[in-house]
Amino acid sequence: MRSKIAGIGYYVPKNVYTNFDLMKMMDTSDEWIQERTGIVERRYAHTTEETTATMGVEAAKIAIERAGITPQDIDFIVFATLSPDYYFPGCGVLLQRAMKMKEIGALDVRNQCSGFVYALSVADQFIKYKNILVVGSEKHSFGLDFSTRGRNVSVIFGDGAGAVVLQPTEDPNRGILSTHLHSDGESAEILAMYNPGTHANHWSSTELATFKKDAKMGEYFMSHEMIDNCQNFPTMDGPAVFKKAVVKFPEVIMEALKTNNYTPADIKMLIPHQANLRISQFVQQKLGLRDDQVYNNIQKYGNTTAASIPIALCEVYEAGKIKEGDLVCLAAFGSGFTWASALLRW
Ligand code: UT7
Repeated sequence: MRSKIAGIGYYVPKNVYTNFDLMKMMDTSDEWIQERTGIVERRYAHTTEETTATMGVEAAKIAIERAGITPQDIDFIVFATLSPDYYFPGCGVLLQRAMKMKEIGALDVRNQCSGFVYALSVADQFIKYKNILVVGSEKHSFGLDFSTRGRNVSVIFGDGAGAVVLQPTEDPNRGILSTHLHSDGESAEILAMYNPGTHANHWSSTELATFKKDAKMGEYFMSHEMIDNCQNFPTMDGPAVFKKAVVKFPEVIMEALKTNNYTPADIKMLIPHQANLRISQFVQQKLGLRDDQVYNNIQKYGNTTAASIPIALCEVYEAGKIKEGDLVCLAAFGSGFTWASALLRW
């Protein structure tokens, strides 16, 4: 018994922000952004009316409809995001509520850029269920530093959502052939958002020593100083992430291919997580893939983290670039570090 993607959908907000729009907010340029990342524009969710969960719902509606089922037929949810509506509970239950689903299990996955492949892999192991909804959704725009200080991070990310319905299949020529998950926490702080969190590292030892026991405990978590010092935004050592990504992407793709006795030439479509067009191009070159074997859409959407792979996969599907039986490889790398791949026959 394998699992197959029976329906797929994506949703991106209407608001388009070009590199020129960002130039009004910070010291950056269209040339810098395009040269270093390939990004031309990205979407930002409506400030008050759209959230990570609501965008996930929009993508899920399409995936469910295309699978020929209704929300009430879904019997398990896996929701991947790094930008949840609430610190807790997770977006899975918010989607379950919004879509009036049965009282099914709702699991939240937080593996950042690898989130969707991790979520797909979890769902693949859970395929005793008949209809699993796997969602990747992000509303980054609410949590970025749009001043010059945060420009190395903020120009990269965009908002959006993608979803698939996974169903069991006995067809030997279809479905997920294997998934491969990895992590190395040694560099956890290289790409991270530290606050709010339970680490309390933003306080100096002197400050900590002056705190009366319990009196300021809440301030370890969230304080005015933290916000004044802009410690509530993501930080990234971009070049360090880049260097690791260009090694781990090809490695985990080759792992998936070798496990199933395939070579890069057998891939109909590689969908790399849309981290940076330069990373995708490097991976393509390293594996000797043709342009028509690799799909990129970062130019339009920026890096949508857990949403990037399902959005890209859905565009590829809608454009008729993959047909039943085609070999499709998904691969991701990001914060953690975590990296992952999935090989499937569409
Ligand atoms: O989704 C997975 C996680 N993320 C990634 O995979 C990201 C991987 N890394 C990258 O994509 C690239 O490292 C970046 C696009 C983030 C940065 O490109 P880079 O070529 O590595 O630039 P850099 O960080 O080495 O910065 C070069 C210069 C610096 O100025 P100085 O020190 O040379 O004067 C930065 O301050 O570019 C400056 N800079 C900018 N200039 C204009 C940084 N961000 C910007 C900006 N606009 N947005």
